[in-house]
Amino acid sequence: MLVLGIETSCDETAAAVVEDGHTVRSNVIASQHDLHRPFGGVVPEVAARAHAERITALIDEALVKAHCKPREIGGIAVVNRPGLVGALLVGISAAKGLALAWDLPLVGVDHIVAHVYAAYLAGFHVYPHIALIVSGGHTCLYRVSGPGAMDVLGQTADDAAGEAFDKVAQMLGLGFPGGPALARCAEQGNPRAHAFPRANPNEKPGDSLVFSFSGLKTAVYYHLREPGKGARALRKLGDAERADVAASFQETACEILVEKTLAACRQTGIRDVAVGGGVACNRRLRALFAARAAQELPGGRVFFPPPDLCADNAAMTAGLGWHRLSQGERDALDLEADPTPKRQG
Ligand code: KG4
Ligand code: ZN
Repeated sequence: MLVLGIETSCDETAAAVVEDGHTVRSNVIASQHDLHRPFGGVVPEVAARAHAERITALIDEALVKAHCKPREIGGIAVVNRPGLVGALLVGISAAKGLALAWDLPLVGVDHIVAHVYAAYLAGFHVYPHIALIVSGGHTCLYRVSGPGAMDVLGQTADDAAGEAFDKVAQMLGLGFPGGPALARCAEQGNPRAHAFPRANPNEKPGDSLVFSFSGLKTAVYYHLREPGKGARALRKLGDAERADVAASFQETACEILVEKTLAACRQTGIRDVAVGGGVACNRRLRALFAARAAQELPGGRVFFPPPDLCADNAAMTAGLGWHRLSQGERDALDLEADPTPKRQG
């Protein structure tokens, strides 16, 4: 069965057609980065308006690229949480309109569960596994027992990893979106140039599965702050110094993510890991996981979906939607937008 997926939870308008929950027939994304760049972050009102302008053409494009007609679609899946409520409502309204017009079943999908599902979609079918989801809004570890079935093991007490990348990139004057820009800048720097804090001093290393990135972010801020010139004045760095700060921050953030994930593996006895979310595009994170897993997860594997399935996309929405629909799950046309993450486990 072909499922049309629709995703408008933040600043990417996305539509996709996926067959039987595993074969991506089309996966199209309209990024809004250019619209939000002047503001240095996502502006909810601007995001919702841009989704409304683009969603119909994008759905058409997804159908054309999948070489399918509306009558060949068997169901519609739409992200209905978590996210920016105005942005979510655009995708949900489009999905409801099409479900009504084409007389198709509708199912609401959780964006974070869809990020976990991206590994299945990319061919990783090992269960149980540990999933690390690292995005702009979420940093969570899960025990995943099947497609779409998971229990939370740990999450962040404050900032998400992607948010920390974005804020540090902003402090370094690297623009928006910050994560990819910081990663590029870090390639020229020395990751051991600065020793930024890695853990809550009260925590036993390796034990806790709770992440915290606000201390790391604040340490970078104090490193950059111009003394005696007010809270907003940051030092202007030369290219080499900026690259060293970016590389040292990135190294610390990636080490924290790897350490906690390996701690989750030790605590559960599970040796297979899948990583997802926009930060999973980070090349240093991929390299560090590969090196540590080779030593510490004998017989196990750390799987990263390709970058287009790590960052926000609607193929993961359609795939997870297929699973829900094939289990007989349906949502009515009063499906609501829920900005908050669902409590897991
Ligand atoms: O999953 P995603 O596309 O959207 C959310 O659900 O939030 O993740 C976006 C986040 C942003 O914070 C972005 O800066 C970060 O992922 N990101 C990266 C990289 N590419 C995207 N962070 C570090 N390195 C990257 N290469
Ligand atoms: Zn996401």
